[in-house]
Amino acid sequence: MAVARGEFSSRFGFLMAATGSAVGLGNIWGFPTNAASNGGAAFLIAYLILTFALAYPALMAELIIGRHARANAVTALKSISTGPKSRWLGLTVGFIGMLTVSFILSFYAIVSGWMIAFFFDSIARLLGLESASQWLTLDAVPRNAIFVVVFMVVTVMIVSAGVKDGIERWASRLMPSLVIILVLLTIYVLTLPGAMDGVRAYLVPDFSRIADPQLLVDAMGQAFFSLSLGVGTMLVYGSYISEKENLPFIGTLVALLDVGIAVLAGLLILPAMYVALSNGVEIFDETGAFIAGPGLIVSVLPALFETMGVAGIFVAMAFFILMTIASLTSSISMLEVPVAYAVEQHGIGRHQASLSIAAVITVISLLVVFYFDPLFDLVVTYTTEFSQPMLALFFCVFVAWIWNRNEVLEELKKGCPDAESGLFWKIWPFYVKFICPIAILLVYFQ
Ligand code: TRP
Repeated sequence: MAVARGEFSSRFGFLMAATGSAVGLGNIWGFPTNAASNGGAAFLIAYLILTFALAYPALMAELIIGRHARANAVTALKSISTGPKSRWLGLTVGFIGMLTVSFILSFYAIVSGWMIAFFFDSIARLLGLESASQWLTLDAVPRNAIFVVVFMVVTVMIVSAGVKDGIERWASRLMPSLVIILVLLTIYVLTLPGAMDGVRAYLVPDFSRIADPQLLVDAMGQAFFSLSLGVGTMLVYGSYISEKENLPFIGTLVALLDVGIAVLAGLLILPAMYVALSNGVEIFDETGAFIAGPGLIVSVLPALFETMGVAGIFVAMAFFILMTIASLTSSISMLEVPVAYAVEQHGIGRHQASLSIAAVITVISLLVVFYFDPLFDLVVTYTTEFSQPMLALFFCVFVAWIWNRNEVLEELKKGCPDAESGLFWKIWPFYVKFICPIAILLVYFQ
């Protein structure tokens, strides 16, 4: 079963793939809406602190385990376990992670499908195709089902092409485009009337909120979701990093890029909401709170683009391409988790593994489309609020309590010979051992 393992060909390739995974709907949709409904910059500050204090150490745990084991999450956790009990725990965490990420992908594909539909809508409007435009923007089961399938097909095509020729190649093409589109859109929106009110709402903190338990729970969930933690995604990507790389350094870059893009997206979405307000679009719901969640992206923003005339069509096009790219570079990292397992552990070909696993996930996703009301929120809540932080906690436990400390250090030293005397090694081991698990539990039981 000696399958040749893939490896990212360069640091840039890894950075694009890993930031591609991290940057997704969570940054451009989740973060701004969370910030909008949680006191603007108060949320931003909590999110920044939690990202660097909790999520970054957990990210490092996954990257180090992955690169050391050079294997998928299940095999990796098994290989660093030290006895039958930790072996069992490793298997369990690996499998639950794989299940969790598959369910995350099943709802992610639905939302991503909407993004593709809205992108096609901008083309339909450009061509004056009224009825197509109506069909594309009406929230209906057939449309949602079709675009789930479209999105999953593209995801499979990339993943089945392999680590270097699929994931790395596409992430390296798509991520720079994403940054360019995001910057241009942000600059444009900031010049529109009303935008500065949005900047104020975003950057002037409502400090009375910062100790609010709900804000902390949301910020932690956001931080873990955004860095794709707990389910083995970053572990698998870590397993494709060259031994020459300095892990703490590239882990920091990934976290900084992820946070940076979220902050920038906030500077796009919140001002856009206030521009919409000044154009007469409703941005608050009956309770006076911001329209967050799906309503924001699929009703407020399209309504805004509508008020902008022809320019609005192009802005819509750019915006929904941005969202589609962000989703795609994330979905491939999700699918890679079970695919890597099937390929390495069961010797199934990559093509066949990606296709059959994606088919199963698509079926789950379609079930959620058909029974949207009971299922969608349930799947989102269960996977992201319940399963993910718990699993991230177990990754910390594994690296700090189960795995041999010297092996951890040896792994770090590979790309960073003086790791032992560095700041990272002074702080991080203590951190993942005590602070992360306790803090995760504390926030969790809020
Ligand atoms: N981080 C991505 C986002 O912000 C989503 C994502 C990719 C993810 N892989 C993941 C979330 C694994 C949880 C687990 O949208």
